[in-house]
Amino acid sequence: MTQLTFPDGFLWGAATAGHQIEGGNVNSDWWPREVAPGSDIPEPSGDAADSYHRYREDIALLAASGLNTYRFSLEWSRIEPAEGMVSRAALDHYRRVIDCCHEFGVQPAITIYHFTTPRWFADDGGWRNPASVERFARFTEIVLPLLDTASHVFTINEPNILAMIFAGKEGNQQIQAGALPDPDPVVTGHIIAAHRRAVDLVRTTGRPVGWPVAPQQFYTDPGDTRAAEVMRAYAYPRETVFLEASRGDDFVGVQAYTRTRITADGPLPAPDDVEQTLTGWEYYPPAIAEAARLAHDVTGLPVFVSENGIATADDQRRIDYTRGALAALHAEVARGLPLIGYLHWSLLDNYEWGSYRPTFGLIGWDRETFERHPKPSLAWLGEVAKANAVDTE
Ligand code: BGC
Repeated sequence: MTQLTFPDGFLWGAATAGHQIEGGNVNSDWWPREVAPGSDIPEPSGDAADSYHRYREDIALLAASGLNTYRFSLEWSRIEPAEGMVSRAALDHYRRVIDCCHEFGVQPAITIYHFTTPRWFADDGGWRNPASVERFARFTEIVLPLLDTASHVFTINEPNILAMIFAGKEGNQQIQAGALPDPDPVVTGHIIAAHRRAVDLVRTTGRPVGWPVAPQQFYTDPGDTRAAEVMRAYAYPRETVFLEASRGDDFVGVQAYTRTRITADGPLPAPDDVEQTLTGWEYYPPAIAEAARLAHDVTGLPVFVSENGIATADDQRRIDYTRGALAALHAEVARGLPLIGYLHWSLLDNYEWGSYRPTFGLIGWDRETFERHPKPSLAWLGEVAKANAVDTE
């Protein structure tokens, strides 16, 4: 058994997102689609994990395990329910969440916006509307006072996935393994412009700011030069452009779960003969380390792993996967990668964009009573955090 020790001051934590855990997010663009008769979405988010009310219990469990950082998002549709109308009560709520983190000695890492928008924003063209840039800048200004004690601020979660799936040409749909739709270049331009505006605004708080990109770890068969060309062209609008847009930020976030093989004919879904997770993705723990290296090579920035995890009903497999991911990350650190921290996705089982079936959580909960059931993986990761080291066995 080898102990792999991480750099001093390394942040260890877990991440969530508003719509996936809070519940009752009725004013978001997702809600009406979830409840529409004949919806293409299998299951509505409903009460989710009711973390809007139970955040204290969730943060207490995170802290008790030994983790020291909680990444969560501010729900735009609660804070600005109608254009220009600010809910003081919603801002107060997130202030209480932040205060609660501090009370338990946990650093808040805050995502300004994680996939869901207010209905009014979506109804008026969403990210296709040029006004989206100004609208996001205004929202960022509204939440600036909440960011003053954030360890790190993430502007827009996974802008590349947002451009492809959530605001892409094909509209919202479930995240699929394999082929991803073409991003709409207009949407991409607006998202990047919105990020740049937000970075300038967040800089006035003095808190480190960046955004988390989700590289898909495209790979080709060795020596297949045609496939390599296809891969570069495929990857550019889907991730490289967003990494390039991080240059000048304080850090770059990376989020990765799996890898995707590309041939001369394009990307392929996970093959049948490999272990697949509950999202149909290949079980491939080194993905996050490869993504972190790529993000650093493109941007030159320190890297923060702001999501990584596995959808599985087998918690021992979650531990195995995370140990493999951390060992691969450690090897990159040993090769000089500046790594800020590791945040596991997710603190809680949650609404995986259409279904509660893929369970990513370190903590489960009862669908009727919301009673929390911490899994062995939470205690395991907490021990890793306390030791600031992972063992390889
Ligand atoms: C997102 C999360 C999502 C997770 C697993 C990322 O794409 O930021 O919202 O639940 O990965 O699919």
